[in-house]
Amino acid sequence: MAMILISQGRDMTPWAEALKEKRPELDLRVYPDDSNKEEVAFALVWNHPLGVFKEFPNLKCISSMGAGVDHIMKDPELPANAAITRVTDENLTRDMADFCVALVMNHLRGLAFYKMQEAAHDWQPRHYLNISDVTIGVMGVGVLGAHVASQLSNLGFKVNGWARSKKMIEGVEIFSGDTMLGDFLATSDILICLLPLTKETTDILNRDTFQKLPKNAFVINVARGAHLVDADLIEMIDTGHLSGASLDVFRQEPLPEEHPFWSHPKINVTPHIASVTEPKAVVSLILENYDRVRNNEHLLNVVSPQKGY
Ligand code: NAP
Ligand code: GLV
Repeated sequence: MAMILISQGRDMTPWAEALKEKRPELDLRVYPDDSNKEEVAFALVWNHPLGVFKEFPNLKCISSMGAGVDHIMKDPELPANAAITRVTDENLTRDMADFCVALVMNHLRGLAFYKMQEAAHDWQPRHYLNISDVTIGVMGVGVLGAHVASQLSNLGFKVNGWARSKKMIEGVEIFSGDTMLGDFLATSDILICLLPLTKETTDILNRDTFQKLPKNAFVINVARGAHLVDADLIEMIDTGHLSGASLDVFRQEPLPEEHPFWSHPKINVTPHIASVTEPKAVVSLILENYDRVRNNEHLLNVVSPQKGY
């Protein structure tokens, strides 16, 4: 039985080294590879070439190298008999919360504005927001969103969360399902998107959604670029309904040179860096699932093909 690493554009060396360090005897291949494809039962992937899995007739598990699986689910030729799994990791979760706290505090204290004023040598103190003035709405309170919501609540923010199902998170009021979306949005002075990208959540950050936010609301998207309708965001900022946005993810990455987000004074751009999987931190989990495939056991972190996350 063998494992294969498949990615377009990501350096596989740290993954191969971390796996081999943990298990030197692992039959590990990196795509493209000419060895017997029938021996491959486990694929560890990030942005694979669509349709590639049909080359491996005995594939039992396709694991994402990250938390998101949209890059796998968009393949129209997924093998029916392979489970799809993903990575969860406490460092990844911590890093996402740290990043969101940094973006929220940056907004409250206007640091991006002062960076521009600094460049213009312009001394211009502005009114700032306090933690107690602000309600934060976290869209998607799964592994990452729940921790982000808890950390912000611990800092003293009023925090609401939105999910498909009801759940309990201390200090966080949960709104569930489409029927409660309007009420959730109506109180979100800062909206943080941490949804998985699925059919239901594509384009969810659109004009209609933004109009339901309070005036001067601020939008943070750290999930996927395709949640956001780019032109709607720009329109809602330019017409004064939204105060700005911090975006870490984009429909096309790297963000094209000519994209208007780059030069918009009220939009902060970061290069998909909120929370990055460290291979060394997750290879134990990946090897655990590899062993479970070999032993025909129940896998960890399995994604629902119906829900798409
Ligand atoms: P997760 O554990 O699967 O949580 C997803 C959450 O979204 C759940 O609370 C789920 O509700 C909710 N949800 C899904 N579809 C919904 C819908 N139609 N309506 C309302 N709520 C819905 O995912 P995660 O591990 O927290 O990761 C979230 C995403 O973050 C990933 O998919 C990835 O795209 C992104 N990400 C970005 C970075 C970065 O560096 N920028 C890093 C890692 C991950 P239920 O709880 O009711 O199921
Ligand atoms: C990063 O975007 C991830 O999905 O882990």
